[in-house]
Amino acid sequence: MLRSLSTKIVFAIVAAAVIVVAIAAVAWKSYDDRERMRVHAEAVTGGDSWRGEALFIQYGCGSCHALRDVRTATGDVGPPLDGIATRMIIAGHLANNPPNLEHWIQDPQHVSPGTAMPDLGVITGDARDITAFHYTRAK
Ligand code: HEC
Repeated sequence: MLRSLSTKIVFAIVAAAVIVVAIAAVAWKSYDDRERMRVHAEAVTGGDSWRGEALFIQYGCGSCHALRDVRTATGDVGPPLDGIATRMIIAGHLANNPPNLEHWIQDPQHVSPGTAMPDLGVITGDARDITAFHYTRAK
């Protein structure tokens, strides 16, 4: 009786340990994927994606665009920006690459005269950082 109780306790401890390790592995994988995405985004754009996220909030982009995990980004005037990193075309007609995205963020009215996205006076360094932030967002 006593022996079978201690066997059950050992079994429960082993099962709990296996579950904890599995959860930690999944969490690590997801952290690692996001970190790789961030390193890649910064390498291709030359921008600072952390600063870009803060600027995205500061310029009020989220009043028109929804973006997961950004609390203030709930707008639905423009398209949601989740998965922007892997989209082929942006703003209806531009190839999605760092210079085009940066140019778009900085000067949408010049790229597509009359578009509903206004020029927000985003300066060059800020546009680069926001571009880096965008390229951290795959689906
Ligand atoms: C007043 C609303 C508004 C604000 C503010 C705004 N946008 Fe937009 N945005 C739009 C609209 C509308 C479009 C679609 C334009 C088009 O396709 O011609 C768009 C398109 C885009 C696209 C292309 C998305 C795609 O899937 O093609 C990106 C990227 C983008 N905006 C980023 C930003 C960033 C970064 C900011 C802040 C600096 C911002 N927007 C602020 C309305 C807005």
